[in-house]
Amino acid sequence: MAKNTLTIIDNRTGKQYEIPVEDDTIRAIDLRQIKVSEQDFGLMAYDPAFTNTASCRSKITYIDGDKGILRYRGYPIEELAEKSTYLETAYLIVKGELPDSKHLQAWRNNITIHTMVHENIKKFMEGFRYDAHPMGILVSTVGALSTFYPEAKNIFDLETRRLETRRLIGKMPTIAAYAYRLSRGLPYVYPDNELSYTGNFLSMLFRMTESKYKPNPVLERALDVLFILHADHEQNCSTNAMRSVGSSQVDPYSATAAAVAALYGPLHGGANEQVVRMLEEIGSVKRVPEIIKQVKAGERLLMGFGHRIYKSYDPRAKIVKRVAYEVFDVTGRNPLIDIAVELERIALQDDYFVSRKLYPNVDFYSGIIYQAMGFPTRMFPVLFAIPRTSGWISHWAEMVRDPEQKIARPRQIYIGENMRHWVPIEQRSEPVMREDAVSDSI
Ligand code: CMC
Repeated sequence: MAKNTLTIIDNRTGKQYEIPVEDDTIRAIDLRQIKVSEQDFGLMAYDPAFTNTASCRSKITYIDGDKGILRYRGYPIEELAEKSTYLETAYLIVKGELPDSKHLQAWRNNITIHTMVHENIKKFMEGFRYDAHPMGILVSTVGALSTFYPEAKNIFDLETRRLETRRLIGKMPTIAAYAYRLSRGLPYVYPDNELSYTGNFLSMLFRMTESKYKPNPVLERALDVLFILHADHEQNCSTNAMRSVGSSQVDPYSATAAAVAALYGPLHGGANEQVVRMLEEIGSVKRVPEIIKQVKAGERLLMGFGHRIYKSYDPRAKIVKRVAYEVFDVTGRNPLIDIAVELERIALQDDYFVSRKLYPNVDFYSGIIYQAMGFPTRMFPVLFAIPRTSGWISHWAEMVRDPEQKIARPRQIYIGENMRHWVPIEQRSEPVMREDAVSDSI
């Protein structure tokens, strides 16, 4: 019978090693025994950007990037998007099973009693400039929550973890909505806990003088579906930040602030904002061939295209595209959709995109929906951060309980100078400007 091992011959020494293979993976630490001499540190694996390194074992989300499969706790994303709600999906992600109606009601209550934020949070947020980016506000305000809940540092206490999970999922929409109201010079709207999770969020964003805000049910459902699609995506950049920062045993608010910061970047959650900016800049379907040419010449990226894991159509993008047309029935058609569809059509026929397996990702159509719903472009990454909080906190809790996890601390291959001795300043010549200098100015 075939053995579940890998045999390695070190051609430097002629020695042979047998390394166990488990789950189609070898443990990088098993390479350390491969040495040229006793003093040698041992072999390491070099993997910038973790393109082929598993950093954990996880039971939360399964992705098959070649087949375009995404499942939360075993449930296909398509079924959840059609039948579930965001809060129910968040329960599933956090707790591992779908709730019965009694547990769902209790979960809903437990989240909604935490939607309010301390009044000082409002004052804190008022310290930002009028034109502050809402993601910048979110990074800082989520981090600031740790100062309001210092007990959150008891990360090994189950009850504390439960409480901080509810608080984080409950308060994210409130902070996000306040960031928006602040940027518009509008008064804050307190949470309305009679509304659904997304209905309340829409109320906190858009309520004006009416005594009770009534969300449009189609838009409320569309946002809920988008929240379901964004709830988790296994070890992406922000989840990795959450786990990595959390591995220092800092409180979950500080770790979540790091995750929000990672999401802010244009290659991650900031991509939905960049897609709309790109489509607005393209301006008309006629310019699409010219843009594709620029992309192929390496002059720009086609934002909303490509994915580290999906090498076929992102299953979330298919659902988002469908939801876009449902939203347009209410809001009127966003003309950017025509440019997006044409970009997709041409790109999917072009060898540059086909050979690199570049398909639309979740961000390609989501911004167009958000814009049609009246969200300013700068709010788009925030709309990603709110639902992803349930994923981040679940990964954090999984990491905290995993006996194999330790403080995340990668190795490096040192390529700098060998040892040299300090020289008195009057004996030094003018320094040469090095290619690797941070800046060529003083
Ligand atoms: N437009 C044009 N070319 C691209 C694109 C793109 N959007 N994405 C990848 N490529 C090319 C890339 O230049 C490279 O070509 P070559 O082999 O000739 O050097 C090849 O495709 C492989 O790309 P890569 O950069 O090695 O792929 P990666 O796995 O490191 O990057 C990515 C994944 C998502 C960062 C990248 O595809 C990208 O920058 N896309 C645009 C930004 C975006 O839409 N991000 C949202 C990702 S999905 C939601 C999320 O995670 O937040």
